[in-house]
Order: sequence, then C-alpha cells, then structure tokens
Amino acid sequence: MINLSANYMGLILKNPIVISSCSLSHSADGVKRLADAGAGAVVLKSLFEEQILSDTRKLELSAESVGHTEEIDYLRQMGMTQRSDEYLEMIEKAKEAVEIPIIASINCISDAAWTDYAKYIEAMGADGLELNIALMPKKFDENPQDIEERMYRIIEIVKHNINIPVAVKLGPYFTSIPRVATKVRKSGASALVLFNRFYQPDIDIQTFEFQSKNRYSSPAEMSNTLRWIAILYKKINCTLVANSGIHDGEAVVKQILAGASAVQICSTLYINGLSQIENMLFYLQEWMRRNEYASLDEFRGLISQKNAMQPEYFERQQYIRALVGVE
Ligand SMILES: Cc1cc2nc3c(=O)[nH]c(=O)nc-3n(C[C@H](O)[C@H](O)[C@H](O)COP(=O)(O)O)c2cc1C
Repeated sequence: MINLSANYMGLILKNPIVISSCSLSHSADGVKRLADAGAGAVVLKSLFEEQILSDTRKLELSAESVGHTEEIDYLRQMGMTQRSDEYLEMIEKAKEAVEIPIIASINCISDAAWTDYAKYIEAMGADGLELNIALMPKKFDENPQDIEERMYRIIEIVKHNINIPVAVKLGPYFTSIPRVATKVRKSGASALVLFNRFYQPDIDIQTFEFQSKNRYSSPAEMSNTLRWIAILYKKINCTLVANSGIHDGEAVVKQILAGASAVQICSTLYINGLSQIENMLFYLQEWMRRNEYASLDEFRGLISQKNAMQPEYFERQQYIRALVGVE
C-alpha cells in the first residue's frame, strides 16, 4: 500500500501536490475544482497588503510611512477591487466546499497596520497563511540587512497575531539564502516556499513599452529550487516546499529526493489542464512502486547535501562536474 501523505507545516495532506497562489484559486468554486482534481491543499490567490489598508482607510498614512506610493498607484490603475471582506468570505466558502487544507495568502511589503487582518483570516477558518513578502530593493542607499530585517519583522508581527501556521514564500535573490532561511524560521515561519517567481519584464520594440513576458514557468526553471532544497534539508527545522518550474511527476520525485516535503504547482495546470494533478500523482506512485518505497519519508532527502558522501563539497562538485570536459 503506497502512502502519499505529507506533513505541510503541521497540516497532514493526503498527497504532496499543493496548488500555489494563482487565479485558479481566486474563488471558492475554483478551489473546489482544484480539490476535485486531486490537490493535497490549495493556496488562495493573494490579497495585497494595499487592498487591506485601503479598506481600513489607512492607505495614505501607510504609503507615506513606507514610501510605496508608486505601487499603490499601480494597483489602483490595475483596478484591483477585491475587497478584504470579500476575501474573508471566499475563505469561509472555500472551507465549506472542500475537505483539504486551505491556505490564505497575503502579498506584503511592510509591517503597517494590515497585519491585524491576519486574525480575521484565522477566524474564518483558514488552515494556514502564506506570506509573499515582495520586497523590491529599488532604493540606491538602502542597506540589504535593513531590507531583510523588515521581512523578519513582518513575520514576527503576523505570527504574534495568529496561531495557525505561517509559510513564507521567498524570492531567490539573497546573498545568503541559508542565513535568510534560518532567520525566517526563527521569526516564526513554519514553512519556506522556495522560490517565488517574479514578474518577467520584457520590452516591446514596436510600441516602445514594457510588457510582461513568460507568464508561465518552464521546467528548466526548477534547478535553483532543487539546489536550495537539497542544501537546506535538515538544516532548517521547518517544512521545505518546492516551487517554480515543477511541471510533471518526475519533477515531484526529484524535489522530494532533494528534501522537499511538498511541491507547489501552477503553470503546469494552465498549460496542461487540471488533469495534470492526477498525472503527476500517478507518476509519483508508479515510481515509488518500482523503487519499493511505501511512503514519501522513505526517500525524502536521499539526494540532499546532508546525505551526500562529501557534504562539504556538494556544491563545488556539482559545479566542477558541470564544467570540466566541456570544450
Ligand atoms: C496567473 C498567475 C497568477 C499568480 N498569482 C499569484 C499570487 O496572487 N500570489 C503569489 O504568491 N503568487 C502568484 N503567482 C505565482 C505562482 O504562485 C507561483 O509561485 C509561480 O507561478 C511559480 O510556480 P510554477 O512554476 O508552478 O508556475 C501567480 C502565477 C500565475 C501564473
């Protein structure tokens, strides 16, 4: 009997495939479709900090204090109208509609007064909260440590407000990912989602305008996640969740071998349809059967740095192997 269950920051999932925050999870009906298609859990589409602040009439004050007026103007232009009370309603309806865990998501940039809102998310029955802390270091004189400290402060305040587990979705651009991951954990996160995939800008040379490119990821993008899951496995005492570029069952096997407790997916569902969830689960199960594993725990982290023959050379070896002999 093969057991696919996964521990996701203390929540027990029937399988390790979690739908990442996206427009497929923007309504209770969408969540139901994802659950019916076999997902282990769903992360709801993010609510933006600015939307919460706008609703609580603290927007202008906060914009001044954190200096993010441009982002707020942008959100207004985009017509982002979903109010924070509608988001709470969506959590409640999604919880009624499905049995799998529902994780709310907030995209935030500051520790302004929006953090109280996390209490309502918990009260509406969300099983967890994911923070997409979207810090964009645009200021030329801002110290990197100050930027990181802002992130830790956000996590501490949110965690102080709620008892449900908090996941943090990190971007890949830090000088020391091990240090940031450790501090994020110490600040109260129970899971790290590695990595967030940022908006990919491009320039249209006909219209002379910026435009968005490659809305969906490609499978080649998962290497960086694989590397960092393998390095962090068993070094950070929290759930490691792989995200970005995971498109098929083989990718799920690889991420678990590196040390992931679960994976988050979304692009592959837009490209291949929701039936891809079952395809991925089928592949995972068949691979486990062929290799005589009865549970994910039996092979999780086998190819991590911790279990490498010479852990101290893990990264260096990979690098040398990739380059030596290429003429
Ligand atoms: C249409 C779309 C909407 C998204 N919306 C959000 C969002 O609201 N919040 C968030 O944290 N990530 C959002 N993402 C990013 C995904 O959750 C995910 O991190 C990213 O696409 C990488 O995973 P993938 O390679 O499986 O697509 C969105 C992605 C797509 C394609």
